[in-house]
Amino acid sequence: MKILVLGSGGREHAIAWRLRQSPSVSRVFVAPGNPGCAQVAECIPVSNPTPVGFLEAARQCGADLVLSGPEAPLVDGAADLFAREGIPFFGPTQAAARLEGSKIFAKQFMQRAGIPTARFAAANSLDEARAALDEFTYPVVVKADGLAAGKGVVICPSRPEAEQILEEMFAGRLVGGAGSRVVLEEYLAGEEVSFIGVSDGERIVSLEPSQDHKRIFDNDEGPNTGGMGAYSDSRILNGQQRAFIEREIMQRTIDRMREEGAPFRGFLYAGLMMTGRGPMVLEYNVRLGDPETQALLHRMEGDFGVLIRSAAEGRVDSSALRFRAQPSVCVVLAAAGYPGKPRTGDPITGIEEAERRGATVFHAGTRLDGGRLVTAGGRVLGVTHSGETLAEAIDNAYRACEAIRFEGMQFRRDIGRKGLARWRQ
Ligand SMILES: Nc1ncnc2c1ncn2[C@@H]1O[C@H](COP(=O)(O)OP(=O)(O)O)[C@@H](O)[C@H]1O
Ligand SMILES: [Mg+2]
Repeated sequence: MKILVLGSGGREHAIAWRLRQSPSVSRVFVAPGNPGCAQVAECIPVSNPTPVGFLEAARQCGADLVLSGPEAPLVDGAADLFAREGIPFFGPTQAAARLEGSKIFAKQFMQRAGIPTARFAAANSLDEARAALDEFTYPVVVKADGLAAGKGVVICPSRPEAEQILEEMFAGRLVGGAGSRVVLEEYLAGEEVSFIGVSDGERIVSLEPSQDHKRIFDNDEGPNTGGMGAYSDSRILNGQQRAFIEREIMQRTIDRMREEGAPFRGFLYAGLMMTGRGPMVLEYNVRLGDPETQALLHRMEGDFGVLIRSAAEGRVDSSALRFRAQPSVCVVLAAAGYPGKPRTGDPITGIEEAERRGATVFHAGTRLDGGRLVTAGGRVLGVTHSGETLAEAIDNAYRACEAIRFEGMQFRRDIGRKGLARWRQ
């Protein structure tokens, strides 16, 4: 089977790397990919990164199956287009992708389905939003309805700050059109967990739990980023929590979407807050997370290609899926300036040495400049390793990070530490 992966980041490199080791997969393509993807797959340039442009790439390589790393092609209807053109595609239709594409849709859906989530109000105008603020205490969470690349959520400590953010959102200054409708949401305290399943539209098979680190600085300080690192360890959830999430959140979502006429086939990601009232959904994503995927796929065994194909064909085969017990850690090395405008074009050294130290180094924002590897984005690399214990996995990952250099490199020193603190108690 020839598989085409859409996208160009660390997540897509990890997907291609894992597929490359799947016996069922003969060739792996990534469109457009990056220099890391090119080491494990064949990259196809994409001049037009829309569903139509990706369709052209799929025809060019004769893909038997296509999947998308990022959400944009899914929200833009890639699955629908590929279905019309008769090319097998694993990912939700445009209607099902609204779970990520519209936070208002997702919140109203959860309310209809009885899925635990924060109390909320949806607002279509600044006046409506101001009036709705009366029903909330502080901090309050303001969320742009549409896709905002991680920049559409603001936690506001007081009413004046909330009003100011709302003004900016509705004026289009914060996240453009994505902020023309908003969700106001009750603030939930707790620890976040990423929970991802693979669904064929009827059943959903769980991957292992993981935790992302969204803020740029240690101890979750500073502005939000695309994700500065992740770890995966089965112990993030106990059996009872896991069973609750599988039944009351994941399967319930799949059942209800089917009942509502928009069956969800693809990777379903629930961003959870573990609260005193139990796990609650902060948001859905309709694809794998980045950098959670790097940590997850590092632990995954079995034939990833069979898992995806079986789900795409409506008969998800969980026997294709196994995880090593050893925890894994992905540390993101970011460029100077990130999460603002990153500095680019700096030569990168030490990847081979990091790999000699046992790490797998996934490329996120790199490019080749006359044969030299240089930085080309905010998140540059994802240094991924595992260990017998989480502590060992963390040490292994950081030892590998020490080998890598580029001008202005920044990374968090505390990836996975929350897990360590939890289990030390
Ligand atoms: N109700 C909430 N209470 C507390 N924190 C929240 C809440 N909703 C979101 N957050 C925080 O904001 C981050 C981003 O929100 P999320 O809904 O995941 O949107 P997105 O990933 O699209 O930016 C979350 O990872 C979480 O840290
Ligand atoms: Mg999120």
